[in-house]
Amino acid sequence: MIDIDEAAFFRSIAERGIAYRAGLRDAPVTPTATPDELRLALGGPTPQCPADPAAVVHRMADAVEAGGLMGMDSGRFFGFVIGGALPAAFAADWLVTAWDQNTGLFAPSPATSVIEEVAGRWMLDLLGLPPESSFAFVTGGQMANTTALAAARHHVLGAAGWDVESDGLAGSPPIRLVVGEEVHVTIPRAARFLGLGTNSIEMVAVDANGAMLPSDLERVLALDPGRPTIVCCQAGNVNTGAIDPTGELAAIAHAHNAWLHVDGAIGLWAAACRNATRLAGLDQADSWSTDAHKWLNVPYDCGIVICRHHASHRAAMTATAAYLVQAAPGTDRDPVDWNPEFSRRARGVPVYAALASLGREGIEAIVERCCAHARRFAELLSSEPGIVVLNDVVLNQVLVRFLDPSGNHADHDAKTRAVIAAVQQDGTCWLGGSSWRDQAVMRISVSNFATTHDDVTASVAAIIAASR
Ligand SMILES: Cc1ncc(COP(=O)(O)O)c(C=O)c1O
Repeated sequence: MIDIDEAAFFRSIAERGIAYRAGLRDAPVTPTATPDELRLALGGPTPQCPADPAAVVHRMADAVEAGGLMGMDSGRFFGFVIGGALPAAFAADWLVTAWDQNTGLFAPSPATSVIEEVAGRWMLDLLGLPPESSFAFVTGGQMANTTALAAARHHVLGAAGWDVESDGLAGSPPIRLVVGEEVHVTIPRAARFLGLGTNSIEMVAVDANGAMLPSDLERVLALDPGRPTIVCCQAGNVNTGAIDPTGELAAIAHAHNAWLHVDGAIGLWAAACRNATRLAGLDQADSWSTDAHKWLNVPYDCGIVICRHHASHRAAMTATAAYLVQAAPGTDRDPVDWNPEFSRRARGVPVYAALASLGREGIEAIVERCCAHARRFAELLSSEPGIVVLNDVVLNQVLVRFLDPSGNHADHDAKTRAVIAAVQQDGTCWLGGSSWRDQAVMRISVSNFATTHDDVTASVAAIIAASR
């Protein structure tokens, strides 16, 4: 190890981070460095001997910041479903690194464990979910869905007289996983992780905007009564933003003794709005997942799982060992009882800071502002000849298609892909593509608290210019 002046080094890195963040407002969003340029700048032979840490990190940052970064925290980034980083959450996340608390157990990390405990309680209250629900701060929506389905697997097999934690799945009653046709890919992936297999999946039809049809859920569940069943619906379709009618689906699922999970990676925070009619009946489900790194605008990586049936959640996740210092039942909260991770970063700390700095009003303001920006995108773009908005903009997602004017040989898919590529190249904003009902589309997701009216105006102008 080479001795350095740590304080000066860290200050210089903090200044760098601050400058990067400040520059996002005006900088182009799209990276300009080529992969080969990045490899050349960052590669080289395997290091054999110690080097000056300050020189190492500044050299790495020089290489990265020379056009290598996507402006994901820019107010003009509309790709995937990616939020920015609220000032309080951003700062708290830095402290999580400085404190470096392994928050798997309460006893060695009491302060960060209490922060997570409080953040979890606030979150249940804000989202209107049963206050006795268990929760865990995990790495993202994928692990939140996986954890919820592990709890569900325990629960529905337990009801069928099978202890999956002890006996595994070999010889168990087969679980049926019922999902909407618009299910997010992380649910079948969770089914693979949990040994349910994708062949256990049965599909329920959806409406034109991608929301699950309760009548078809009823039909599917009636086909095989008595089979242990987990139903997954969603609050926020990754393409259209559609929200499944959770209350109705919960009533149907429960009439068939099924577990209802809500994948709310995108849309669950809309439940914090005082007029949360979009999510009526949300509290009737058995488990919920969401992301803090999407609409709550907490830095990566941070997802959340919530479970009504805490005994099943705990049974699916808990672990004990002689060397661990575990809390007595009913006393403190050990994250290891609820998380798939063992050692873990205190990723609930930035959530606490986000919730405390926003309050209900602040979350509502972000949700409503992003939805209004999305509606404005749809309005402005669809008033341009040759541009069509394909979805009902019920949340923060917009699907746009560009029509090729070349008569009989028109190729609207090619035209749409070409416009997306031209917008990405231009760099005013960044957004990606998808396919909706077998048609190529541009996806616009407004998830960043920092997006302004002017950001939308400039981005619409860039999109229209690219389409001409
Ligand atoms: C509906 C839905 N569920 C789950 C996920 C996965 O979330 P993560 O990327 O945080 O794992 C996403 C990601 O976009 C999503 O849109």
